[in-house]
Amino acid sequence: METVVPTTSPYRIAGDTWLIPNIVPVGPGAFLPVNSMLIRGSEPIVVDTGAPIHRDHWFEQVFSLVDPEDVRWIFLSHDDGDHIGNLHELLELCPAATLVANFFLTERMSLERPLPLGRMRWVGPGESFDAGDRRLHLMVPPIFDGPTTRGLYDETTAVLWAVDSFAAMTPGAVHDVADVPREMFDESFRLLNSLVSPWHQWLDPVRYRAHTEAVEGLGLLAVASAHGPVLTGGAIPDAFERVRAMAGRPIVAPPGQPLLDELVAAALPGAPAPVAA
Ligand SMILES: [Fe+2]
Ligand SMILES: [Fe+2]
Repeated sequence: METVVPTTSPYRIAGDTWLIPNIVPVGPGAFLPVNSMLIRGSEPIVVDTGAPIHRDHWFEQVFSLVDPEDVRWIFLSHDDGDHIGNLHELLELCPAATLVANFFLTERMSLERPLPLGRMRWVGPGESFDAGDRRLHLMVPPIFDGPTTRGLYDETTAVLWAVDSFAAMTPGAVHDVADVPREMFDESFRLLNSLVSPWHQWLDPVRYRAHTEAVEGLGLLAVASAHGPVLTGGAIPDAFERVRAMAGRPIVAPPGQPLLDELVAAALPGAPAPVAA
């Protein structure tokens, strides 16, 4: 039986700030969020551009909140496919938009298709840019899976775009951490954050604590993740403590061949059982 995927719609995180959510089924009653974000200030900012498989619905959601010609900034957190999936189409539709990225992201993406250098701004961690009525600060987020990754902090709303940090599965089109069953959050958070950052096993807990405290110390009212529910209140320090606890600890082993066998068997009922090599 095919999984029914609930429809998603923009989720308001703070004043003029929305999560642009999409979800993919990953098991019985479990979905992986694939989010981006929109800040509709005096100079609207699209924060990451979603995955190609969600293209139509992604554009539908973004342009329900902002007119294409009003988009002034496109911020790319890094060059993974689920963050850049609609970039070139967005650049074409939004001629007034400047692309905020960095040197290495440009190098990596240009291997597939050139980026419009004349429409770019390169901003590094620890630096910021002004977008009309607000200033956005870039930093290296606590958990990341690509060397170009930069988080984004909006000092006007105290919202942090944490990119691939704090990933957790959800039971459907729900975006508030309070609506995610505790057991699902605990288990999937451990697995996904370890998968994203397997280097946590070699981390010095003291040095890593200093890094994560610098991010947390920005003063955060809400934390939006590309692959997890929005965190507010006590869920924010809780999430930071969870990733700190990973420093120097073994990775969480991902599923292997047995899961693939199950998936193939489910997709092809009647197929012969796989023969062990
Ligand atoms: Fe990533
Ligand atoms: Fe991602």
